[in-house]
Formats: sequence, structure tokens, C-alpha cells
Amino acid sequence: MRKKGLETEIRDAREADLDRILEIEQECFSGPEGLTRSQLRTLHRNRDAHFMVAKERDGGSVAGFAIHLMDETIARLITIDVSAAKRRNGIGRFLLRGAEERALRGGALKMVLEVRESNSAALALYKSAGYKPVGEIPNYYFYPVKGSRKAIAMEKKLRNR
Ligand SMILES: CC(C)(COP(=O)(O)OP(=O)(O)OC[C@H]1O[C@@H](n2cnc3c(N)ncnc32)[C@H](O)[C@@H]1OP(=O)(O)O)[C@@H](O)C(=O)NCCC(=O)NCCS
Repeated sequence: MRKKGLETEIRDAREADLDRILEIEQECFSGPEGLTRSQLRTLHRNRDAHFMVAKERDGGSVAGFAIHLMDETIARLITIDVSAAKRRNGIGRFLLRGAEERALRGGALKMVLEVRESNSAALALYKSAGYKPVGEIPNYYFYPVKGSRKAIAMEKKLRNR
């Protein structure tokens, strides 16, 4: 993938990537809702969790990551995080497409996700990738941002049965 001068590739996350992944997670979610090192390690070891990183080519560093969990024919996107300095280069969309392709290969019929109603960047990314809002969950997050704990539930059909 190449856009605006950044060339990146996607691969499965390795144990050795976890320090960098934690750094990006803390950059993205500085409050208590960020995933901890131990949660990231647990997810990385979970056979139903698919953990991918986008890495700049030619020896560059990990610029973002995505995690989804498979539950038979439903894939649930846990998060997509892109390092603040690397945003608006198409990496989020690239990771989302990578997660969808991986979910399809794993037998998923649809991808579902929850996103904060105030997270305009993520909402714009998901909408532009074809995700539709299917409901609101008023107290989804335990931690309020701008006075709200509400999530928008979204989903996208990946294939018919
Ligand atoms: C949401 C996030 C992953 C987007 O990553 P990104 O690499 O910057 O996104 P992309 O460059 O691939 O953008 C793809 C599209 O999403 C939309 N978009 C992304 N960021 C946007 C912003 N800040 N404002 C408006 N639209 C935005 C645009 O439609 C964009 O397409 P365009 O650049 O052609 O206009 C990134 O902002 C991020 O890591 N945020 C913090 C973590 C987070 O909230 N993750 C989501 C959890 S549910």
C-alpha cells in the first residue's frame, strides 16, 4: 500500500512487537480505557484473536495495529490504532481491509464493532469502508468522554452464506 509517500505492509503481530503496540495504544487511549500490556499479551496468545500490524517498508517501524476476535461466523473488531504521527496516510483503512480479508478467510460472514459516538475519525473511517450503524449502546464504556459512555454499534456484511 502506498499513499501520500508512506509505503506499508501488513503482517501478523509478533511477541516482539508488543512493546511498540503498547506505545501506540497508550498514544491512542491515554485514559483508563486503553488496553494494558497484560491484556495485549493475552489477546496475542488467544487463538480466536487475530492481531495484525502495519509496518513501514524498508526497515521502518510499526505504525499501527488491528485486532479482531472470531466467534464462528462473526468477527468483532476490538480496535484499530494508528500512531498519531502516521495518521491520514491510509493506514487505518489498510488495516481494516486486512482484518476483513483475514476474517473472511476464517469463515466470517460479517464484521461487527463498537465505536464511541465522539470518535469522529473512527466513525468516518468505518462509514467510508461501508459499515452501517445498527444501534446505540448507552453505557457501553465504563469511562465517560465528553460526558458520554455511549457506543455506536456498526457492522458490515463480508459475504453471503
Ligand atoms: C481512527 C484511526 C484508526 C484512523 O486511522 P488513519 O490511518 O488516520 O485513517 P486513514 O488515513 O486510513 O483514513 C481513512 C478514512 O477515514 C476517514 N478519517 C480518518 N481520520 C479522520 C479524521 N480525523 N477526520 C475525518 N475523517 C477521518 C476519512 O474518510 C479517511 O479517508 P481520506 O483520508 O481519504 O479522507 C486513527 O485516527 C486512530 O488511530 N485513532 C485513535 C484510535 C481509535 O480511536 N481507534 C478506533 C477505535 S474504535
